[in-house]
Order: sequence, then C-alpha cells, then structure tokens
Amino acid sequence: MRPTSRLVAAFAAATALLTSVSAIQTVSRAGRYLYTADGTRFFIKGVAYQEQGAIANDPNNPFLEPSDFIDPLADGAACTRDLPFLQQLGINAIRVYSVDSTQNHDSCMSTFSNAGIYTIIDLSLPVNGSIDRDSPAWTTNLLDLYINTIDVFSKYDNVLAYNVGNEVVIAPNGTAAAAYIKAAARDTKAYLASKSSTALVGYAAIDGDDSWLTPLANYLSCDTTGDNSGNNAIDLFGLNNYEYCGAASASAYDGTNTAFQNYNIPAYFSEFGCITSPPRLWTEVQVLFATPMSNIWSGGLAFSYFPATSSQGQFGMTTISADNTTVTPNADFDALKTQYALVQFPTTPAQSSAGSTSYPTCPVADGVNFLASTTLPPTPNDAACSCLMDVLSCQFTPPATADVSLTVGPLLDEACGLLGQNGGSCDSIAGNGSTGSYGTVAFCDPSTKLSFVMSEFYEATNRNVQSCSFGGNATINVNAPSSVANANAAATSCLSNPSATFTPTAPSAGAGGSSGSSGGSSGSGSGSKANGAVSDRALVGAGLITLLSVAAGVFTVMA
Ligand SMILES: *[C@@H]1O[C@H](CO)[C@@H](O)[C@H](O)[C@H]1NC(C)=O
Ligand SMILES: *[C@@H]1O[C@H](CO)[C@@H](O)[C@H](O)[C@H]1NC(C)=O
Ligand SMILES: *[C@@H]1O[C@H](CO)[C@@H](O)[C@H](O)[C@H]1NC(C)=O
Ligand SMILES: *[C@@H]1O[C@H](CO)[C@@H](O)[C@H](O)[C@H]1NC(C)=O
Ligand SMILES: *[C@@H]1O[C@H](CO)[C@@H](O)[C@H](O)[C@H]1NC(C)=O
Repeated sequence: MRPTSRLVAAFAAATALLTSVSAIQTVSRAGRYLYTADGTRFFIKGVAYQEQGAIANDPNNPFLEPSDFIDPLADGAACTRDLPFLQQLGINAIRVYSVDSTQNHDSCMSTFSNAGIYTIIDLSLPVNGSIDRDSPAWTTNLLDLYINTIDVFSKYDNVLAYNVGNEVVIAPNGTAAAAYIKAAARDTKAYLASKSSTALVGYAAIDGDDSWLTPLANYLSCDTTGDNSGNNAIDLFGLNNYEYCGAASASAYDGTNTAFQNYNIPAYFSEFGCITSPPRLWTEVQVLFATPMSNIWSGGLAFSYFPATSSQGQFGMTTISADNTTVTPNADFDALKTQYALVQFPTTPAQSSAGSTSYPTCPVADGVNFLASTTLPPTPNDAACSCLMDVLSCQFTPPATADVSLTVGPLLDEACGLLGQNGGSCDSIAGNGSTGSYGTVAFCDPSTKLSFVMSEFYEATNRNVQSCSFGGNATINVNAPSSVANANAAATSCLSNPSATFTPTAPSAGAGGSSGSSGGSSGSGSGSKANGAVSDRALVGAGLITLLSVAAGVFTVMA
C-alpha cells in the first residue's frame, strides 16, 4: 500500500469507529425527572466508586470518616481494570467522592464515557475541603477548590452532576449549616452557567427522621426570593438510604416515599444497600426502579464497588489484589448483577408531560427540627480577602513545615481568647446560619481570618511587638499602608459590599495573599460591620475547627 492509501484506510477505519461509538447523551432535567437528549426518561443505575482513604480512629470521628483519599479517576489502568466488572453490573453511573484537580483524568473519563457511564462527582475533600458540620462556613478556599475541580472536569461529556456536599447535616441541631450548603449550590450553579455547563448541582443527604430531613430537602430545593427562581436551589437531591434490609418488602420505603411524594426536583438514592444481613440480596432494586417508586425517584447508586468500612461494618462488592491488577467479585457483586440485569426503566412520564421545575418558597425555621435562615451567606470574594490579607497589620505566617490545616484551629482559639480578654470579639469572622448573620470576614479562607483576628489583637494591645508573634506563627506586616488605621478599616476598604452575591470567577493561578487585588475598595463601607447578632459562641465555634474538623467526609453511613 502506498502511504496515501494507508492514510485513507486509517481515516476510513477511524470514521467507522467514530460512527459506531455514539457519544454519550447529555442528561437534563424536566420538572422533577431526568431525561437524555433523545427525550427518554433517565434513571441513575450505578455504584459508588472510590477506594476508601485512611481513617483516623479517634473519638472525634464517630462515623470513621477518612482523612485522605485516593482519586479513582486519576488511575487509567485501574479504570480499565474495573470497566469489565462495571459493565457486568450493567451500570450507567458511578459516584466519586473526592478527586484531585491537579491529576490527569482523561483516561478514566474517556474509558467510562465510551462505555456509556456517567459520573457524579463530589466537589468536597476530606477534613478541610468540606463544609464543616460543626463550624460551617462557605469560604474562598472551598469555592476555589470547587471551581478548580469543575474546571478540570468540564471538558468531559459524562459528568452528570457535581455534589456540593455529602452528609454535612446529620441531625436537627446541625440544620443551620444548610444555609451554607445552599450558598455553595448557588455559587457553583452560577459558575457552571458562566461556563455554559449543563451539569447538575446536587447534595447527598444522610437519611434521618422526616421531622428534619423533609424540611432540609425542601430548603435545599426552594427559592429564598419567592419568585420561582432556581438560582439558589440544588438541581438534584441525593438520599443515602439504607433502610431496606435483607428480603424486606416494598413497604420498607413507604415513609420515605411519602416524604418525597411531592418533591419539586429530581431525587435519587445517592447510596443504598443495607448491610445488616450480608451477603446482600439487592432485591430493593426491583422496588426502586419500578412504579410507584419510579414516580418519585430517579434510581440510585449501590454502595460500594470497592471495599469500605463504616461504623456499621463492612461494605463492598470486590476485592482488589495487592498488586492492583486483579478484581475478585464477591457474592454482593453477583447478586447486584442479577438484580440490575432485571431492571427495565419505566418510560413515564414522557418529557413532554414532565413540565418545568417549580421552586416553592422555603420552609420556615421552627427553632427545633429545622434551623436554617433564608438569608444565605454571601459569595466568597477572593479579591477582597487577598486585598485584606495584604493590608492587615499582623499576618499569619506559619513555619514552612507546619500543616496549616492543623495549626489554624488552635491559633484561632488562642487569638480569639486573647482578643476577648482585650475587649474584642471574633464576630467578624463568624457566621450564624440560623440567624442569617454573617461577619464581614466570614467568607475568607481560614488563614486570612486568623490574620484578621491576630491584627485586631495586636492593635488592641497598642501594637506591642509581642502581640504579633504567636510562637513564631505571625509576623508584623511592614508593608501595611499607614492609611489603613486598623483591621476594621482594612475590612471596610477591601470589602465594599460584604454581603454581595455574584458569579464567581476562576481563582488566578497561585492565588492567595498576592498584592494588587482591587477588591472593589470603593471605600463606601456600606455600614456593614459584623451584621450584629453573630453569637458570642464564636470562640467555641472557632475551636471546633480543629477539634472536630473531620467534616462531611465520605463513606458515612448511619441508620
Ligand atoms: C448536636 O448535638 C450533639 C449531641 O446531641 C453534639 O454532639 C453536636 O456537637 C451538636 N451539633 C451541633 C452542630 O451543635
Ligand atoms: C495500588 O493502588 C493504590 C491506590 O489505589 C496505591 O496506593 C498502591 O500503592 C498500589 N499498589 C501497588 C503495588 O501498585
Ligand atoms: C487544606 O489544608 C492543606 C494543608 O494545609 C492545604 O494545602 C489545602 O489547601 C487546604 N484545603 C483547603 C480547601 O483549604
Ligand atoms: C505555631 O502554632 C502551633 C499551634 O498552636 C504551635 O504548636 C507551634 O508551636 C507554633 N509555632 C512555633 C514556631 O512556635
Ligand atoms: C446562632 O444564633 C442562635 C440564636 O441567637 C444561637 O442560639 C446559636 O447558638 C447561634 N449559633 C452559633 C453557631 O453561634
């Protein structure tokens, strides 16, 4: 063959390949259901897909949440190894709990896309990369983490949804954190829209009593403004549901179905698969994917492809050999394969009769079962926080060897305590999702908040050099402009509109503490100090950042 004809033959072969492998269809929402681009009702039929990270076994980690993670979409060989098994299960989706935006995901994402497998990607990371259920905040570092992940994954055609949180709220006394989840959903949605992404924004909830789970679900999908806009509503509600055990019957789901009967957005089981009667039969699959449940739910994800441990026991459908080359499926795998093979997706309602999604007004906090305010935290403002960091009189400068995520908490406690003894408070860095009051500096990253408090203490002690030391963790900022009298003046000049909501932009490379940020310093100040009612529990709240910071991690299961 002459070179040209070889080229032509290769081109013809490539074209044939392209036409035989049809691209995965976009999934979008109509009313409270999901549809593929050809108008067919879509159900999530999947598995959780993430090897479990190391677990810190201590009393502050009752759910055995991992402290690190292994990005399952960064190892092309592992995805290729697993694909035949995922195909045997007949799945169309996997859920991944944490990814590393610095890694390359091309191989795994195309392997799965070519096999018709969508991904649901949680944007949070263990420990300091999630909204902390005990000391919630929606801050620049979290927003930037989420944006960096979206930027890496937006080029793939098989991202069905991004989750902004997993099990952040686990009990009624923690429902105030929902205000922060809703703010995260609002800003993530705005960012995706600015990139013309059609990926959905979701949240995955721990199962719980209807008295607080129902208002939580309704709050996350409601419209705080009352004008039927979805701007601060999630698109997709996930319920981690383990209530169907052994050979139960369809009635096991009666209560859950009733609670979500009239829900306004698509909902699915973001985890399912009871473990109290192993090996699992997975007969709930036939209930979940058939009427009447299919009128309420859009499928679910069986937990978990990889072995995992929770406070309740062991999960998993496979074991992976020590050299990572071989997959051995277990009885759970075989049973799920059998049950998934029997599923035929209901086709109703048709997309044309699904209507448009409505966004009701929000549930009212009752002070007991549901606490979240409809006044949401503002959009974290990178430029304002880096402007602030630059002009503060005393800056947190951790030793190069320090693990910042571990030192910030104790130092905040110490600095807030000292500031309190000198007539100040940590109100400016605190927020309260139940009163809807958020300190002016509350959306900044932990290091900037700490610098702010250190500066207030340093200034409150007449700029005593000893006051800006903190055991070598702080340094006087010799470049602080003399025109900025103190930390509050710095906040006023850098944060002209601290309660603003806006479409965030991608962080500049190497963002954080660099100068020249405009920060919208119009100097108008807009009269917003600490918004009043931030509680004096701020000191306690700040302390919890380290004491209980294993927040909203992955693989949490609770009955
Ligand atoms: C909720 O109450 C439990 C104890 O009942 C406590 O351990 C937890 O810290 C509380 N959470 C919040 C956010 O107040
Ligand atoms: C197997 O993969 C895990 C991550 O998934 C990795 O930590 C481990 O080092 C690998 N083992 C070998 C022998 O390659
Ligand atoms: C979490 O802490 C680590 C170590 O200090 C840091 O590198 C990382 O940026 C932090 N992540 C977030 C989202 O703040
Ligand atoms: C910085 O703060 C940490 C946490 O409080 C403390 O353990 C450490 O000793 C401080 N660093 C130095 C150099 O003293
Ligand atoms: C938020 O404010 C309410 C009402 O004042 C108070 O009971 C609660 O303790 C505050 N929460 C935090 C985390 O400060």
